[in-house]
Amino acid sequence: MDRIDKLLCSTGRWSRREVKDLVRQGRVAADGRTVLRPEEKADPETVRLTVDGAEVVCSPFVYVMLHKPAGVLSATEDRSQPTVLDLLPPELKRRGLFPVGRLDKDTTGLLLLTDDGPLAHGLLSPKKHVDKVYLARVDGRVDGADAAALAAGLTLGDGTVCLPAGLEPLGDGSTCLVTLREGKYHQVKRMLAARGKPVLTLHRLRMGPLTLDEGLKPGKWRFLTPQERAELCGLGDTT
Ligand code: URA
Repeated sequence: MDRIDKLLCSTGRWSRREVKDLVRQGRVAADGRTVLRPEEKADPETVRLTVDGAEVVCSPFVYVMLHKPAGVLSATEDRSQPTVLDLLPPELKRRGLFPVGRLDKDTTGLLLLTDDGPLAHGLLSPKKHVDKVYLARVDGRVDGADAAALAAGLTLGDGTVCLPAGLEPLGDGSTCLVTLREGKYHQVKRMLAARGKPVLTLHRLRMGPLTLDEGLKPGKWRFLTPQERAELCGLGDTT
């Protein structure tokens, strides 16, 4: 049996003090019964905890979807530049979350942060081939020949061999969707530069089963929904 305040704090959503206040205000229920004292105990395996009627999943890990803005590093700390961790509240920073993979400083869009090391490892494993979809704006126009070249698997100027990738020109071809199954350094930029269409802006829309929430403004974050977590964890635990 675990203390209910401890279970709620472990989600990273609330500090100990905030949990106390939620309980005092009668907003927490365990199996449908209002929790009267923060130190009440429950079986973490079976209890159904709710706050304001909404179910709270008390998993040992936290999963956060961030809309990464341009100008911040995909790192946990840096001496002089802001990192994605600086966009999270202190109670989440304290949990030791880290970004799953990296986006360049000027790349925007979907970034997953978690403290679930095995899941992150699984998602990043080259064997896993988790699709990542980017929206790129290029200097020039991409066309069917570029799509065919990426589909065949590009070899970059330095000899780097890329796995076959998807490219779908949009509108007049100055923007396109690029789908990668791996994550080499500056990969989208290097592939499109190799085709003579340098990337002007890059934005990640999707990673595996996760799609960037359109309601999240740049710099904003939210916890994954239980369904997103289930889909993601189903992917990660088969390595
Ligand atoms: N490819 C790039 O070139 N940059 C990113 O940030 C992600 C993929």
